[in-house]
Amino acid sequence: MSRTGLFISFEGIDGAGKSSHISGLAAAFTAQGRRVVLTREPGGTPLAEKLRVLLLNDAMDPLTEALLAFAGRRDHLVQVIEPALARGDVVLCDRFTDATFAYQGAGRGFDLAPLAQLERLVQTGVAPDPLQLREPDLTVWFDLPPEVAAERLAHARVPDRFEAQPLEFFRRVAQGYADRAAAAPQRFARIDANHERALVWGQLQAAFAGRGWLPAAPADQDSA
Ligand code: TYD
Repeated sequence: MSRTGLFISFEGIDGAGKSSHISGLAAAFTAQGRRVVLTREPGGTPLAEKLRVLLLNDAMDPLTEALLAFAGRRDHLVQVIEPALARGDVVLCDRFTDATFAYQGAGRGFDLAPLAQLERLVQTGVAPDPLQLREPDLTVWFDLPPEVAAERLAHARVPDRFEAQPLEFFRRVAQGYADRAAAAPQRFARIDANHERALVWGQLQAAFAGRGWLPAAPADQDSA
């Protein structure tokens, strides 16, 4: 199996169930002898984790939200993601730039053009080729109807500033993800998250095996 670094992000509206599967994938990669870096956005470095607390809790306008998300992302890329990829590690990142397009762009209604400018500014000048835009090799998109996600979240812990948004906000966020996926179909793997856990895991395993990154599941193997 190749030792080239792999950068994989995980996306979806709140309640889509991505977090529980990320650790299963980390275990699967580790079992293949790969070194895994598990990280998240907003966050992933001490500085970016401080920005996360502000983003999730303090009221601010959409541009400020976008700037904080991208400021944290720059630090995360420079301090954690790029060094890990240079070592040949597998980086599993719970949310990345698609979340800014979906939440601040589609959700809050902030213009997509300045977001695209920020994306270019923040994500270039970090890879060995200074002109390369550093973006995930694969983005796993947990697609779930907003109504189902809302039902799941109703039983969850105290909501943060985003989780507390109305259904209409998540409809826009879901559309934002669909638009990002349509614009870069080769980077996205869509997972139908409206199934029980084992079936969602099976789709993930197929997506990773199909790329030669993990072995195919034996016929009798259950979920992780
Ligand atoms: P989430 O990743 O769902 O973490 P947890 O499982 O701890 O709730 O929460 C992060 C929230 O931040 C989520 O509601 C989406 C939002 N977000 C943005 O609005 N913009 C961004 O750029 C990112 C990365 C996240």
